[in-house]
Parts: sequence; C-alpha cells; structure tokens
Amino acid sequence: MSENSNKERKKVTVADFSKMKAQGRRIVMVTSYDYPTSIIADDVGVDSILVGDSYGMVVLGYDTTIPVTVEELLPVCQAVRRGASHSLLIGDMPFLSFQISEEDAIRNAGRFIKEGGMEAIKIEGGREMAHTARAVSNAGIPVLGHIGVTPQTATLHGGYRIQGKNADSGEDLVQDAKSLEDAGVFGIVLEMITEEVARVISQTVSVPTIGIGSGRYCDGQVLVLHDVLGLYPRFVPKFAKRYTDLASTIKKAVAEYASDVRQGMFPEENHVFKMDDGERDKLESNQKS
Ligand code: KIV
Repeated sequence: MSENSNKERKKVTVADFSKMKAQGRRIVMVTSYDYPTSIIADDVGVDSILVGDSYGMVVLGYDTTIPVTVEELLPVCQAVRRGASHSLLIGDMPFLSFQISEEDAIRNAGRFIKEGGMEAIKIEGGREMAHTARAVSNAGIPVLGHIGVTPQTATLHGGYRIQGKNADSGEDLVQDAKSLEDAGVFGIVLEMITEEVARVISQTVSVPTIGIGSGRYCDGQVLVLHDVLGLYPRFVPKFAKRYTDLASTIKKAVAEYASDVRQGMFPEENHVFKMDDGERDKLESNQKS
C-alpha cells in the first residue's frame, strides 16, 4: 500500500470486524510490541494490531506469558499507538489482571484504553470468563475473546495441546464461543483448535473468529510478528509461517559491524564530523604552546 493510499485509508473499528465477516473479507491481525513495527504493519494495511502478552516471551525472554504485568504492557501499548493510525489496536490483558473480580477486570481494561491508547482488549477463557467479558463490555470497552489453547492457563489444561480433537471437546468449544458471543464480545481468537471445530464455530457465531493454528475457515488470522519475521530463535510453532529470516539478516549485519570496527573500517570519512580548518590549526597550535 502506498503512503498516499494509506493516508486515505479509513480507521478500522470494531464495527468493521462484523462488516468484514458479513462480506466474507478475511481479517488480518498481527502482533506488534514497538513503534517501528507498528508503523510498518499499519502502513502495509493490516486490519488490526494486537499488543499480545506474547511480548513477555518473544521480547522479554520469559518462558511463558504468565509473568507479564499490566505495568510492563502499558508502555508497549503506548509505543504501538504512536506508530499506528489506521489499524484497530487491541491490548492483551495479562494473567491475573482480569480473573480476580469483574471490578478489577474493568479497572485494568480501562488502563489499556485510557493510558495505553488501545481501542479494545483481549481476555483469555471461555464460558468461565463470559461474565467478565460481559462486565468489561458493558463498561463500554470492546472485548475480543480467546479460546482453545489459552497460554495463561495452559498448565491447568495439560500444556499446549491441540483442542477439539473429538466431538465432545469440539462441542465444548462451540459452547464457549456461544457464551462469549452472548456476553457481547466483538470477535473471538481461536488458538490451536482443529480445523473442523474452528469451521463449525465460525459458521455458528455471528462475530468474527480470528484463527491462530486453527486452520483455513476462520474469518481472519493472527500471527505473532516474531514468528512471521523469523526473529524468535527458541521455537517456531508448526502453524506459523515464517515469511523471512530476520534473525540471520540481523546476525550478518551485527557480525559485519563488529568486524569493521575491529579492522578500523568503521567509521569512514562520511560518518565523521569535522572542525573548520582554522579552528583545527588553532587547537593544534594550542597543544604545542
Ligand atoms: O499474546 C498473543 O500474541 C496472543 C496471540 C497468540 C493471539 O494472544
């Protein structure tokens, strides 16, 4: 997308999500955790940017998303906000920022909107979290649901296991999605759910489904930016497509820089600042006297 057409682009709203589902237009979402990548994603024309709690793993190097706090995510949201002017901005509520009470959930969700500059929030959980989704949504904050693998509670559910492998668990997921829809969410992330179940959910609920590792029949897709870019060296999920190998590109560039410095090949003439000749002569003669 050219800079000009980006200027003419309309701001994406939560209402556009349901329009896109109705019109059969697939929704594109990606995570971002900083100003430069949010400018890039927004310029490309993604529909939505998620400031995911995956930030804790791919940027801060935690083993899971569990340690991430609201205080850690708010400055990240602010940076992403400064870079993006068109995409719908969604803040991911970290573990224990919404589970303790509805009041606590509304207060923390409000911080993502008022302090972080986000336009919506995401919470993990199905039926058991529908009351919270309803409370936050009733407070005027758009909520994106998230079912299937829910990384914040993955240990409770036996780790990162594909969800919906049999009819009963598939039906459970459909009920989770319906409860969230009833609670007023504007969309639902489906993470690592079998393609068949994700398809049934997408056909059953009126709000758009955004898949991650949940096959081809979701109404949209989301990926972690570092997986798209090949920038998270520890692990690449089977469902993620790596579109470039930025880790190798960065490695090569930093290694070349190190070698240039060691060999005296950087900085070069065009990287230095010069005095006027007269001032230089004066400085040199001062040193002699
Ligand atoms: O934190 C995150 O990046 C997410 C996506 C995987 C949906 O929740």
